[in-house]
Amino acid sequence: MTLELCQISLQQTQELLRLTNTTLRSICCRKFTDRELYVEALRRVLGGRGRRGPDSIYIHLNGKSGESRGRVFHLISGEVVEGSEEIVIDPASVFSPQRLSDEMLVSNWRDTCETVEQYQSYFHPKIKSFIGRPVTNFICCQIGGELSGALLAFNYPGEATEYDARVLLSLAVVIGSLVTLSNGVRETENAFIYTIEALARACEAAEESTGEHIVRVNRYAGALAANMGLPVDLVEVISYSAQMHDVGKIRVPNEILLKSGPLDGEELRIMRLHPVYGEMILGDSPRLQIAREIAMTHHENWDGSGYPSGIGGEEIPLCGRIVKLADVYDALRSRRSYKNPLSHEETLAVFREGDGRVDPVHHFDPVVLATFFSIEHIFEQIYRSVSSAGT
Ligand SMILES: [Fe+2]
Ligand SMILES: [Fe+2]
Repeated sequence: MTLELCQISLQQTQELLRLTNTTLRSICCRKFTDRELYVEALRRVLGGRGRRGPDSIYIHLNGKSGESRGRVFHLISGEVVEGSEEIVIDPASVFSPQRLSDEMLVSNWRDTCETVEQYQSYFHPKIKSFIGRPVTNFICCQIGGELSGALLAFNYPGEATEYDARVLLSLAVVIGSLVTLSNGVRETENAFIYTIEALARACEAAEESTGEHIVRVNRYAGALAANMGLPVDLVEVISYSAQMHDVGKIRVPNEILLKSGPLDGEELRIMRLHPVYGEMILGDSPRLQIAREIAMTHHENWDGSGYPSGIGGEEIPLCGRIVKLADVYDALRSRRSYKNPLSHEETLAVFREGDGRVDPVHHFDPVVLATFFSIEHIFEQIYRSVSSAGT
């Protein structure tokens, strides 16, 4: 029996190790949530379907104010099911899990009590009610990493053993380290988004428009990308990258950028270099590839008559074709020193029939244009909701 338990615990620990490996390998392309991690890890440890393990696991994390917040999980027909609403336990409570979690603890009712009924008095009523049946044994161990908390596993078949405790300890280490890692990834991601937003805002400060233009272009681009059926992750990247479409204007002299009259030939030539400057400023980070493509191609036309490269059709990256339409819509809606703003209906008319500058059939990707017409009311909503002048 002991050898068998030893082999089972070794096998379960190896499964947890494999989970950690897989998670680490996919860390760059996967969005973590704490819940996903718990569920993956718990699936490998909870008992059922011929597998040895506890029938419930209570995970609690200690809050800043000392209280402990936890949830009970079960395995039902191979699926991890959250068996409870959040349980909040006061640290002063005699049932506080902090009091149990100083060390790893293995407990079977026979070691402590005369009867199983007596043994129940050790457990918090809320935890007990979510476990759903009398507790006959449990193992408790602390969660590692930056988190402060513990795991309590209840009702192993027969007796809870040292071997079971080792598996639970591995689970605690896995959960602790992966959650710490996922928090780190999230913080880095937030810092990245914040930095590019700051860069986009800094560039726009030089222009007559307010920061509202970049926010709206982000949202239009996100709405177009989502309604073209692109994957959620790509929609998000296109949306946040769109705000850097004019980042290259930071290198265009203010006399040209802010000139109220029409630009002469040389001024126009310099102005039309801003996509190239943008690509240079965004550098070669793989994380900014979409931003770079957008900066470089948002003035290209479907028929190849745009700038700076004169590429056309599907040679223009899709993200550039999307942001082009979003940018033109917003430019038409906005007041400039040389023109009055158009209403949504007037802009729709330009997108249908064209005007002196916009030629929808030759300038826009027909699929992007058709998507625009199917969601044009969303453009109007975005313009109104992100516009100090649009209401
Ligand atoms: Fe531009
Ligand atoms: Fe723009």
